[in-house]
Amino acid sequence: MVGSPYKHGTTMAQKSLLSPWAANIAPSPTLAVDAKAKALKAEGKDVCGFGAGEPDFDTPGFIKEACAKALQDGQTKYCPAPGLPALRKAVAEKYGRDNNMPGIEPAQVVVSPGGKYSCYLALLSVCGPGDEVIIPAPFWVSYPEMVKLTGATPKIVFAGDEQGFKITPEQLKAAITPQTKLFILNSPSNPTGAIYTPAEIEALVQVAIEADILIMSDEIYEYLLYDGVTHLSPASLGPEAAERVITVAGFSKTFSMTGWRLGTLVAPPAIAKAVASLQSQTSSNATTFAQFGALAALEQPEKAKAAIAEMLAVFDTRRLKLLDGLNAIDSVTCQRAQGAFYLFPNISALGLSADDFASRILEEKLVAVVPGGGFGAEGYMRLSYATSDEVIDKGLVRLTEFCAELAK
Ligand SMILES: Cc1ncc(COP(=O)(O)O)c(C=O)c1O
Repeated sequence: MVGSPYKHGTTMAQKSLLSPWAANIAPSPTLAVDAKAKALKAEGKDVCGFGAGEPDFDTPGFIKEACAKALQDGQTKYCPAPGLPALRKAVAEKYGRDNNMPGIEPAQVVVSPGGKYSCYLALLSVCGPGDEVIIPAPFWVSYPEMVKLTGATPKIVFAGDEQGFKITPEQLKAAITPQTKLFILNSPSNPTGAIYTPAEIEALVQVAIEADILIMSDEIYEYLLYDGVTHLSPASLGPEAAERVITVAGFSKTFSMTGWRLGTLVAPPAIAKAVASLQSQTSSNATTFAQFGALAALEQPEKAKAAIAEMLAVFDTRRLKLLDGLNAIDSVTCQRAQGAFYLFPNISALGLSADDFASRILEEKLVAVVPGGGFGAEGYMRLSYATSDEVIDKGLVRLTEFCAELAK
């Protein structure tokens, strides 16, 4: 332990106000772009927002009704820190039913206030100073910051569009050192929408098994799939995989429940127990009556499936429209993403940085996009198609105009 640099009587003005963790943390660039776009909209400006990472649909009615009933019934108190027992059981059953992970015990499940918190607690439960965590880039903006908050060191492995934004087993192997504790896998991916095939996942898991490292598999977009692709949970690949995978997911993206703040985590018993303890000391439980809504979503899989299918059909049409529109712009190329609700075009041929592109197009054309830098990928930008057809149509016209003006 390093001794305190401060003598008795040191004033706050002489100390650094912020802790080393707070002083070094970057704010979320995606939330920042969204906030700027919303502020411009509030001024009456006609902004085309492609920044938001949330579905633009309402939460399905049967889920809202279950939550409203719970509220009316007085479910307004604390519940056990790791979640309502019935919800933990329903989550365990869901993994048996949908993810080929039979035999999950409710004790292996923790329900948290949001998938973001599930990720953070997953990392905090197993990573600490001296550890390295391998993060494939482009990555979700929060992973490196969360890893740093545990005291561990992020180790970024880049995969550009020429390799479909997916790292190879060779890249993973090359990045592993004796300090490596964990590897983060996020499929479908935010920000690229890329999906690892089952064979690709198997190969990466095999590397993790051989090197004896853990995996945090963030599957929050697991149901948002297009072109007939399938999702594979790494933890389903047998006991050797299951004992090293922490599976994180949640209700935000699948059921348009971003504001409900409900995430889930499934882990080997010792890790789940540690996560439950961390949660009990830092947030207690996720909102009790909200968990009844999530329970309805899992206990009525037919209704849930229908609600997801309806949303997916709309997303798919928008995805293809945006994809075609982007690829029709000179000097812009965009991969056909098959998951989530993001496209991640390469704009490096336009001759200005992604940061400049994003700030200029917002100011000059009122189009909000998120520059790739925050995702560890300069030369790209993220567009979310969780927005209306009207915004996509209008936004594409403005993007095309802007890029044509740049080329002049
Ligand atoms: C990859 C990924 N993981 C986790 C989350 C967390 O979602 P939430 O905290 O809304 O459940 C998000 C949200 O943007 C995400 O994109």
